[in-house]
Amino acid sequence: MARFSSPQDPLFQRLNSSVAFDFRLAPYDLELSRAHARMLASRDIIGADDLDAIERGLTDIREEIDADRFEIRPDDEDVHMAIERRLIELIGAAGGKLHTARSRNDQVATDVALFVRAHALGAKELLASLMDVLLQRAEEHLDWRLPGYTHLQRAQPVYLSHHLLAWFWKFNRDVGRFDFCMRGSDAMPLGAGALAGVNFLTDRVAVARDLGFGSVAPNSIDAVSNRDFVLDYLSAAATCATHLSQLGGEIVLWSSEEFRFCEPSDAFASGSSIMPQKKNPDAAELLRAKAPRITAHLSALHGVLHGLPLTYNKDLQEDKEGLFDTVDTLELELQVAREMLRELHFDRRRMEEAARDDFLAATDLADLLVRRGVPFRESHGIVASLVRSAVDQGKQLAELSDEDVAAVAPQLNGGLRDVLSEGAWLESKVSEGGTSLERVREQIGRARAALREATAA
Ligand code: ARG
Repeated sequence: MARFSSPQDPLFQRLNSSVAFDFRLAPYDLELSRAHARMLASRDIIGADDLDAIERGLTDIREEIDADRFEIRPDDEDVHMAIERRLIELIGAAGGKLHTARSRNDQVATDVALFVRAHALGAKELLASLMDVLLQRAEEHLDWRLPGYTHLQRAQPVYLSHHLLAWFWKFNRDVGRFDFCMRGSDAMPLGAGALAGVNFLTDRVAVARDLGFGSVAPNSIDAVSNRDFVLDYLSAAATCATHLSQLGGEIVLWSSEEFRFCEPSDAFASGSSIMPQKKNPDAAELLRAKAPRITAHLSALHGVLHGLPLTYNKDLQEDKEGLFDTVDTLELELQVAREMLRELHFDRRRMEEAARDDFLAATDLADLLVRRGVPFRESHGIVASLVRSAVDQGKQLAELSDEDVAAVAPQLNGGLRDVLSEGAWLESKVSEGGTSLERVREQIGRARAALREATAA
């Protein structure tokens, strides 16, 4: 290049070159170039014969890439330069006209937006398929009882269906977050040029329509500096990966000998090289462990963007590797979670045994006293004394003698046995969104509707 009198230092080239990772954007870059060339021809900025040659050249390049025959040269700094270089090799002078009325600055922003949009849609589809499995598993285990926990202490019993649906709703909110990302990436940057617009009367709306954008970015300065949509994707992915981590953590806990509420299938577990009795829930452990890496990519991009002046700065090249790693990690995780859950075996006996612990009915006893006119704060204290007396004697509540009960809580007067009768403490949770079967059935209906919505468009 005439502007320079000495070549680039190889060390700088290594630092500066992005082709090793951004070549992954090639399919989007080709699509973009085709739409751009068509628009240039429709506005008579290039000739029809130029367009023909460019379209042919782009098709050939696509074939070379698909067949793994595309050769990246040492001087190809990034995917955009590699493709343009090859186009000129293939079709000559017409290839040199493609970069009219565009810059790598609006080009790269648009390629990345296309990539983000494709993968936000992909995440939504994978989430929907995971939610579908959760819903099926909930229906299969509609009335299995287990303790619900707070502080990891047995708190109140719930149905397994209700518990599994809790995960369903978390992932449903993740769908909403990827939707938000779709909306935030709906305005096409291309046409902004380097930063100020271009010296031709281009037809941005036509290009946007061709590429599947809903509108064009209204400000060229914002367009080339904006990476909010990458933040939006990473942020949605970080929250989703955190949910997957919590789910993985629960499966690890539940598969332990101490809980034994569930057992992963052989396909999602591994053995120990030294202890023959072991079956380790590695898949669940890795779901648990992957989240911080995605959160770190989000945090790293916030760091890159922090304090960055307008408009394009080379710093922005650092948006890609974290994004690509996030996409690969999250998409794999979502598939593993879905398949592991599909095959997860739940142990009804172990869960119901734990749910039979009748201290779990303490709140229900307190509520019975409330119905008999005792203020809740007071009834809470009375039942606490009752529990205390049972614990002291090493008994369950149902094993306390009538005299014991009468001594601590005379107001209960026989009601104790009714409340402790099996199932009563679950079926009494009749409030909307509660664990009684009728409410869970209602919830399943809502989940079906949410899933339909998540799958539409
Ligand atoms: N590889 C660059 C990136 O990823 C492409 C844009 C380069 N633009 C420039 N003016 N140097 O950000």
